[in-house]
This record gives sequence, C-alpha cells and structure tokens, in this order.
Amino acid sequence: MSIDICKVIELPKITDPRGNLTFVESGRQIPFDISRVYYLYDVPGGAERGGHAHKALSQLIVAMSGSFDVVLNDGYNSKRVHLNRSYNGLYVCPMIWRELDNFSSGAVCMVLASNFYDEDDYYRNYDDFTVAAGVRK
Ligand code: TYD
Repeated sequence: MSIDICKVIELPKITDPRGNLTFVESGRQIPFDISRVYYLYDVPGGAERGGHAHKALSQLIVAMSGSFDVVLNDGYNSKRVHLNRSYNGLYVCPMIWRELDNFSSGAVCMVLASNFYDEDDYYRNYDDFTVAAGVRK
C-alpha cells in the first residue's frame, strides 16, 4: 500500500463555549470498523514508539493531548506527519511501516484499530516488511 492513502482526517468538531466535542463513529468518519482502542501516555522525552508495520490492521492515530510525529514508510517513500489537534486523526492503512517520535511533554496518543491485538499481524523487522511489500526479494 502507498503512503498516499494515509491522510489526516479532520473529525467533526462541535465547538461550544463550555468546551469542544469531537466524535468518531465506526465506519463513518473513518474507513474501518473499530474493534480496539489503545493509548500511549507518560512517554519520556526522546522516546520512540512504533517501529513496525501491520499486515491487515487499519488504524486512526489521534493526538488527544500534546503533540508528536508519525513517520510513515511504504518501502519506497516516507513522510513525517505532525499531530497536535484532538480533532485530527491520521489514517494509517495496512502494510505501512510507522515510527512515532518527537513526543511533547504530556502527550497522549490514542489509536483506534480495526482488529483486536494480534502479534501475528506485525512485521517487527524492516527487512521482512520490505520483502513482504514487494520492494525487494
Ligand atoms: P507495540 O504495538 O509494539 O507498541 P508501540 O507500537 O506503541 O511502540 O506494543 C507494545 C507491547 O504492548 C507489546 O508487548 C504488545 C502489547 N500490546 C498489547 O498487549 N495490546 C495492544 O493492543 C497493543 C497495541 C500492544
């Protein structure tokens, strides 16, 4: 899959003087049904997360608080996306190598995922990923 498919989706935002509200509905604002939610928090300065690709999993990555970068790589091209708004979500399609870094203090990274956790869905080795992606033999 190409990193061009991975885009920042602007989620609905109900602005209100009492505080704003954003929502995500399974299969509506995002192109998959949600089976799992997980989040990263208390990330120490300088830490890197990710460093893997998924065979079949689709995800939406949201900076619920603070900011961080997501580096996407399809084996041919890469791009760095800075997330810092809780009404934006980065859609990441299957077969994309991703790394998360540049976490601000207090950052919370929420991920909506299309499937339950399954270690067999991971490529944790970049060379294995590029072979599977057809980039090299
Ligand atoms: P991992 O996906 O490697 O984290 P990240 O990409 O954010 O750096 O997962 C880290 C550990 O947590 C690993 O042992 C698997 C476990 N884990 C679960 O048990 N369930 C989950 O939903 C996730 C995302 C991870």
